Parts: sequence; C-alpha cells; structure tokens
Amino acid sequence: MGESGATSCAIVPLSPAELVLETPRLTLRPLAGDADDLALSVRLFTDPEVVRFICDTFSEEELAEEMPVITRRGAGGRIGIWTVTRKDTGEKIGTSILLPLPVELDDTDWSLVVPERYPEAEIEVGYVLVPDAWGQGFATEACSRLLEFAFESTTLDEIKATTDPGNAASQHVLTKCGLRHDGVRRAYDCDCYGFSITRAEWQTKRRAG
Ligand SMILES: CC(C)(COP(=O)(O)OP(=O)(O)OC[C@H]1O[C@@H](n2cnc3c(N)ncnc32)[C@H](O)[C@@H]1OP(=O)(O)O)[C@@H](O)C(=O)NCCC(=O)NCCS
Repeated sequence: MGESGATSCAIVPLSPAELVLETPRLTLRPLAGDADDLALSVRLFTDPEVVRFICDTFSEEELAEEMPVITRRGAGGRIGIWTVTRKDTGEKIGTSILLPLPVELDDTDWSLVVPERYPEAEIEVGYVLVPDAWGQGFATEACSRLLEFAFESTTLDEIKATTDPGNAASQHVLTKCGLRHDGVRRAYDCDCYGFSITRAEWQTKRRAG
C-alpha cells in the first residue's frame, strides 16, 4: 500500500447503513444532495464568518450546481462528505469530510473520488459547522468519529488535516483529536499548518483512553 492507502485489492462497498456514523450527540450521514442538504450548504457557504479561514463565499446557484459533484463517494463509499445532525434537536449543523487533500489546487479534485478505489492522494479530515453550534465540542466529536471510521473501516494508514495559520479553534480541535502539528506545508495552493495522525498513533491514543 502506498502513502495514499491505495490498494490493488477490490474494494467491498459499504452499505448505506454502514456509512451512517453515530456519536453520543451526533449522527453523521453521507451528503445526499437533497433540498435539506442544499439548505445546509447555503447556510454554511454563503456566511463570510463560516468560510473566513476556508474559501470565498458561494452563491446559492453555485452551491446547487456543484451538488451532483460533491455528493460523489470514493472507495466503496468511504471517502466523501457527511452531514452532521444533532440528535437532541434533529438540526443539521454542518458537514465533515474525508477527502483527497488538494496541494497545488485551491479545492478538492473530485476526479480522484471514484467508487472503485482510494484516491491517489493524501486523505484529509475536515469539518464546517454553523456558528450557533460552535464552542460545544461538536467538531471534536465529529472529527473523532471520522478518525475512528478511517482507521477501522478503511485501509488508510494516515489521515492529514490542514488549517489556515489563524484558525486557532480548528487547530485546537485537531490536537484534541490526537493529530500532530507538522509545521507549515502546502495545501489548497497556500502555505498552511499541516497536521497528521497515523493508524499506530490513533491506536495508541485509543488504548490510553
Ligand atoms: C473550527 C470549528 C469547526 C470548531 O468547531 P467547534 O464545534 O466550536 O469546536 P469544538 O467545540 O469541538 O472545539 C473548539 C476548541 O477550540 C477552542 N477555541 C475556540 N476558539 C478559539 C480561539 N480563537 N483560539 C483558541 N482556541 C479556541 C474552544 O475553546 C474549544 O476547545 P476546548 O474544548 O478545549 O474549550 C468551527 O468554529 C467552524 O465551523 N468554523 C468555520 C469553519 C472552519 O474554519 N472549519 C475548519 C477548517 S480547517
């Protein structure tokens, strides 16, 4: 297996039910692209406060147009975007991802996301929540669950993450989830802070409780 976790073995697709991930307070479901998911995307990506450290804002039309692309899933369903729903209120509060990390591109290369194989790229974990949900540990809970999924239900040996140097909240989420700060690296066509965790590091952290 290479750094990307790519494997020549046939990938067994996971069932829709196996791609629904539970945490004590959240349910993560594959982004379906229905009206509800579009409303969530509009809430997130038209808000300058939410995208401050990520990208420019998008219009509702642009978000609707990209929905058929961003609902793609790779590696038998294991790679893609999940919506994050609060169990207590039923509200969709954000999205969380396992996706190929763009290096000299400023956005995900969706051509790498195909059902029958792992992307030939490093895989990143990420999350975006609506501001009402910030500061309650939800991003940490979603990120931890995706790491567990990545190391229990995929063949990936390492998960990466990157943040804008100014995004202290996200850096804190990543270190709480056990990722190491690797210094400055290229990603999203920028110099940013890199983070990573290997399968062995995740297992050690898990054993320590
Ligand atoms: C980054 C983001 C996901 C964090 O979500 P969240 O649910 O508030 O995160 P959590 O509550 O799990 O943890 C945040 C931690 O950072 C801390 N924090 C928040 N703002 C901070 C700041 N400015 N400086 C340092 N720490 C900060 C919080 O206190 C908390 O730590 P604690 O649990 O030890 O108190 C959320 O702010 C968000 O969606 N931002 C916009 C999108 C984004 O930037 N995504 C990340 C891209 S890399």
